[in-house]
Amino acid sequence: MKKRMAVSLFAVMLISALLLAGFSSTKNENKKARHEQKNTEQPIAVQGAMDIEISALLKEMKNYKEEQIGNYSFYIGKIDKIPVVVSRTEIGMVNAAASTTLLIEKYHPKVIINQGTAGGHDPNIHVFDTVIGTEVMNIGSMRSEHLDDGEGMKPETWKSMETTMRENGEKVEYKSFKSDPKLIKAALSVADKYSHGKVVEGKVGSADFWNREVDRIQWFHENAGTSVEEMEAAAVAQVAKAFNIPYLSIRTVSNSEVSGDKIEDLETAGQYGAEYAVEIVKAIEK
Ligand code: 5AD
Repeated sequence: MKKRMAVSLFAVMLISALLLAGFSSTKNENKKARHEQKNTEQPIAVQGAMDIEISALLKEMKNYKEEQIGNYSFYIGKIDKIPVVVSRTEIGMVNAAASTTLLIEKYHPKVIINQGTAGGHDPNIHVFDTVIGTEVMNIGSMRSEHLDDGEGMKPETWKSMETTMRENGEKVEYKSFKSDPKLIKAALSVADKYSHGKVVEGKVGSADFWNREVDRIQWFHENAGTSVEEMEAAAVAQVAKAFNIPYLSIRTVSNSEVSGDKIEDLETAGQYGAEYAVEIVKAIEK
């Protein structure tokens, strides 16, 4: 009887010891994984909507791994030993928001640079000039006052709507989103490396719209203070803000109805902008 009790006591002790060993080893593995995650450097994310806006970055990375989530492609590699994830967002606000959310969740970037082509709103900004978007605004978010049946449409009376965010449980309204001051500084520090036109600070307007009516472009420029328009920056800035990730907007002008340039060249502007983005990545890590 005594012997049987001793055997079962031994069995209980053995099982407990095995369980404890198993538990502490998974605990150690979790600790190790957390440690490794901290030690792997967070990448700088650079986005472009189209192939022509990311190809110069891919060329600079030389070797990279491509990953797809849904329709969205991410290219993981290095520029000058700096971990970088290049993201092709595809065109427009919804694509930009969706791919930015995936980018943040999967790759945990330390900063997000959204760059590419744009149309000029400021008559002094010419094709192939580059705008550092210190501020970005959703210019497609608008409301109109009531007009009766037959009274027509009056776009010039439409009012911009603010974007509502929730921060620490409270609603906060944004007229526009700001680029991160340190990233603006980094971009300005390598402005002299951009040789295809001038580099200026300005306001970027985003919407799922390509405006070619000169009066409408001038209306945006005068009322919203936009320097250029494109179709992604404000969506990216909004998502970056929701996750508190520093953000920078850079746009190279590919077309303008108001500058007198008779050029529409997205391919060249896309190339120039992405080359400048490479210099900005290097400047951020300096
Ligand atoms: N209006 C709107 N988007 C423009 N783009 C370049 N120029 C303009 C413009 N004048 C960019 C958008 C989009 C693609 C069609 O080109 O950001 O990604």
